[in-house]
Amino acid sequence: MIQKINALLKEIGDMKASNMEELEALRIKYLSKKGEVTALFNDFRNVAAEEKREMGKRLNELKEQAQTKINEIKEAFENKSSSNNELDLTRTAYPVRLGSRHPLSVVREEICSIFGRLGFSIAEGPEIEDDWHVFSALNFAEDHPARDMQDTFFISHQPDVLLRTHTSSVQTRVMEKSEPPIRIICPGRVYRNEAISYRAHCFFHQVEALYVDKDVSFADLKQALLFFAKEMFGAETKIRLRPSYFPFTEPSAEMDISCNLCGGKGCPFCKYTGWVEILGCGMVDPNVLDSCGIDSKIYSGYALGMGIERITNLKYQVKDLRMFSENDLRFLKEFESAH
Ligand code: DAH
Repeated sequence: MIQKINALLKEIGDMKASNMEELEALRIKYLSKKGEVTALFNDFRNVAAEEKREMGKRLNELKEQAQTKINEIKEAFENKSSSNNELDLTRTAYPVRLGSRHPLSVVREEICSIFGRLGFSIAEGPEIEDDWHVFSALNFAEDHPARDMQDTFFISHQPDVLLRTHTSSVQTRVMEKSEPPIRIICPGRVYRNEAISYRAHCFFHQVEALYVDKDVSFADLKQALLFFAKEMFGAETKIRLRPSYFPFTEPSAEMDISCNLCGGKGCPFCKYTGWVEILGCGMVDPNVLDSCGIDSKIYSGYALGMGIERITNLKYQVKDLRMFSENDLRFLKEFESAH
């Protein structure tokens, strides 16, 4: 019996468990009714009378030892989470999930940085505006459809308070306050009363550029446009200007770039024309200069305006405008490496 006790003492001394289930299995193995330690207690009645005292002592020690060891392992499990001894300092750190910038912010900053390199500085204006800054000063006729409630969100008519429908209103504000030369780029949010769909939204974003000085010509405008197109869409990009109409510019044009998907060969994206429209532009109408207190006999200027969503779609082929405002992380994560 003494040999068995010693063998079990050693086994119990070396006992290890890596989880609660394994520990419970060990308890059953040694201390349950049919356990090995308990079995020795059953054999105790066969021990010779003169050895009973010594053997009884040893058996009790063995049982105590087993119980203590099991309790120790159990406690170690329970303390594991809070115990510093269990900290594995060699383990790699949990990855820190960084957020990413919104695609519209990435593109807005790129546009501003390109014009920044041409000497344009950023100007901002209010989103809640009045008729003068959004329409009247910009030469919109009294009955121009853009002034209609179907296009414009009015907050009140008297006194007139409305949400700006374009960032051209910032032109008005800057020209009223400053002397030429003026060279500004105005990014911002605009609002139009449109039904929301994959290709229209009631708010979107624009960037406006304005340059007013002595002797500013259409050639200067074209130069700036070509520089912008090549910087934004790649050195091989071509531009084309089509005559157009805006109340605040004369002459006015719309600019197309060679389709950056097919390189101008023709594809479904450019409707097989090889060209996609990206912005409106023109020479600032003398009426606008005069309305804003700038002498149109001395100064001339050019202006251009583009939708940031449109440019972003061209760069990243986002098919549904609503994605930009839904904040779906699966969409936003796709732009993690875009900056
Ligand atoms: N304001 C125009 C729009 O919202 C865009 C625009 C066109 C701005 C021509 C300009 C410009 O400055 O010259 O559609």
